Amino acid sequence: MKNHSTILGIETSCDETAAAVVQDGTKILSNVVATSEKLHQKTGGIVPEIAAREQIKYIIPVVRKALVQAFGAPNINKVDALAVTQSPGLIGSLIVGVETAKTLSFVHQKPLVPVNHLFAHLYANWLEEKAPPKFPALGLIVSGGHTELLLIRGHQKFKWIGGTRDDAAGEAFDKAAKMLNLGYPGGPIIERLSRKGNPQAFNFPRPMINNESFEFSFSGLKTALYYLIKQKPDLLSNAQTIHNLAASFQEAIVDVLVDKTIRAAKHFKVKSIILGGGVAANRQLRKRLQMQSPLPVHFPPINLSTDNAATTASCAYFNYQPQDIFEVSADPNLRFRKQTF
Ligand code: KG4
Ligand code: ZN
Repeated sequence: MKNHSTILGIETSCDETAAAVVQDGTKILSNVVATSEKLHQKTGGIVPEIAAREQIKYIIPVVRKALVQAFGAPNINKVDALAVTQSPGLIGSLIVGVETAKTLSFVHQKPLVPVNHLFAHLYANWLEEKAPPKFPALGLIVSGGHTELLLIRGHQKFKWIGGTRDDAAGEAFDKAAKMLNLGYPGGPIIERLSRKGNPQAFNFPRPMINNESFEFSFSGLKTALYYLIKQKPDLLSNAQTIHNLAASFQEAIVDVLVDKTIRAAKHFKVKSIILGGGVAANRQLRKRLQMQSPLPVHFPPINLSTDNAATTASCAYFNYQPQDIFEVSADPNLRFRKQTF
């Protein structure tokens, strides 16, 4: 959609309500994110109905704020097109963003581009990067709902090469934190506690690490922690032991992600590795990949790793064409694995 240089992105796939204005797919003019995370902390995880209700409250103020930050006034006429996360995600949440974007597009006569949220995560690496990643690239998407490896031969040329068979990496972090009574979301908490822990203290399984395929599985790791705590509940009464459990759990996930990603990069002879998704914010994962990869590794800035709409706008710019708004509807399903662009 390169003939539309200034794009208003809208993203509501999970518990964030986000809007951003991005120029030429790379320059962020504004990036606003509201989250209902605090409400989900009380329940130890996302309650979809609550997330969607909050998004209904936030969406218009968030879009307005993004326009004001970009142009000094809520002047939607200054944007050339709108982009919105269409899939995958929580259906109630997606509907809020998609229907808002369709309405704005209809009323203001602006083209609308539906975007796949997982591809969008990778585009955090094109935002304000001085040197964009070189193609062909290997993409690792690690979020709360997904762990996916993609071969990217260029913009619009994505091929799925492997993913998780069960839990995603972020989900494993979240469930582990819940079992350790640490709160939500689990990834950042486990990362923080790990800094004072010994990653070798507990020997958790590294699922599928020796398997030739580019698939992952994290549910066995979660189960290993569950049975360990069940058999030895006293482990949770010692603060240092909790640090050690967190560090050892994190290490197991990082080992698998690093091993498979580097192996896939070598196999497909790519020129760079790019990461996206909330778990890409993990400093241990960043450190280990940088250390072990023979190729340049691109990580998004921390604030662009988790859900935001700047990545939605950037992904639209480089990959998609506008669609008839009457054909656009929210789609919670992945589909992604069958798609090759
Ligand atoms: O991409 P994201 O914001 O939302 C989804 O599309 O799922 O990812 C959220 C996930 C959560 O599972 C959260 O625990 C994890 O990313 N996460 C992290 C870190 N920050 C967020 N996991 C590990 N280390 C982190 N620093
Ligand atoms: Zn996401």
